[in-house]
Amino acid sequence: MQIRPEQPKDESAIRDVLTQAFHPSKGESSLVDQLRQQNAFTLSLVAVIDEVIVGHLLFTPATIVPQTPIALAALGPVAVLPAYQSQGIGSQLITSGLNTCQERGYEAVAVLGHADYYPRFGFVPSIEFGLKCEWEVPEPVFMVKELKHGILRKQEGVVKYLPAFSEL
Ligand SMILES: CC(C)(COP(=O)(O)OP(=O)(O)OC[C@H]1O[C@@H](n2cnc3c(N)ncnc32)[C@H](O)[C@@H]1OP(=O)(O)O)[C@@H](O)C(=O)NCCC(=O)NCCS
Repeated sequence: MQIRPEQPKDESAIRDVLTQAFHPSKGESSLVDQLRQQNAFTLSLVAVIDEVIVGHLLFTPATIVPQTPIALAALGPVAVLPAYQSQGIGSQLITSGLNTCQERGYEAVAVLGHADYYPRFGFVPSIEFGLKCEWEVPEPVFMVKELKHGILRKQEGVVKYLPAFSEL
């Protein structure tokens, strides 16, 4: 399997991965299209097996309000074709994506997702750092991970995603 950045020729295959993984919701697929049009990607990765795109992961810029200088990225959506799930593809996409974000100078990453999946990558509930989600969600499902040790200490506030996420 290869993990590599999205290329222009991948767009429809990525749409297919998102549509199948999040079925029946088409919101995630539309969201990614919209963000691509807005040139708003921090990092868009695909997982490829035998030239077939089987997984996709997106990072976008996020901010903390009140404003901080922290370089924060939001992880998601992440999707793997149903037939390829539970084979470690999502994990490899996430691990590779977190490493690239760190190499590019990002200091922390936020994620809204399964509370029993993301802790294995070092995510902890954001509330442990006094950080809240901008949407009303159960506390355990909104998580953060420091890429620079100690960067989120004493950073109370609300994590804001790009506006397109609020339409999902
Ligand atoms: C979540 C997802 C990206 C994980 O990708 P994957 O390649 O299947 O993941 P991995 O093989 O690396 O890891 C498998 C683990 O994911 C866990 N997982 C998958 N879906 C899950 C869910 N809905 N809730 C909690 N854990 C989940 C599995 O339980 C499995 O755990 P285990 O290793 O303890 O058995 C993939 O299952 C998917 O596309 N799901 C549908 C879309 C989705 O929910 N995206 C994430 C939104 S937060």
